Amino acid sequence: MKLIPASILISAALMAVSSPVAFADAALAASNGCTACHQLEKKVIGPAYGQVSACYASKDAKKLAANKAALMKHVVEGGAGVWGAIPMPAHPQLKEGAKNAELGKIIDWVMKDVKATECPKEFKPKA
Ligand code: HEC
Repeated sequence: MKLIPASILISAALMAVSSPVAFADAALAASNGCTACHQLEKKVIGPAYGQVSACYASKDAKKLAANKAALMKHVVEGGAGVWGAIPMPAHPQLKEGAKNAELGKIIDWVMKDVKATECPKEFKPKA
């Protein structure tokens, strides 16, 4: 009998634990209207979340936290120029309280759970 490598068992166990959370956060993206302009792998009106994940990935925890804060700010305030000329509308309803916590979960999901694709050439980060 062949033994199944421990790493496969561990990642399967992790997937079983993390996927319900990932589903919940995908549902938050849908209920907040984000999916109208963002898909996981294909750029539609806004960048694909896989691209966002790729462009803002970092091994540095401080940099990751700063990226998360900048992304939340961009979603709340809206604006163009990072991914091209099309602006994202402002989402002032996500600025505070429980709704802001929901936005934080969506951005965490985009940065950690969505599979990173490629960071495109036209990407011009603000800072
Ligand atoms: C009407 C279309 C539209 C909707 C709705 C929308 N976005 Fe966007 N989003 C865009 C566009 C266009 C951009 C690119 C803006 C730019 O180039 O600066 C973008 C950019 C982003 C980025 C990358 C920002 C950066 O600084 O790199 C994130 C993250 C994001 N959106 C998340 C969200 C979330 C979360 C929601 C839902 C609360 C949402 N978007 C709703 C169109 C939209």
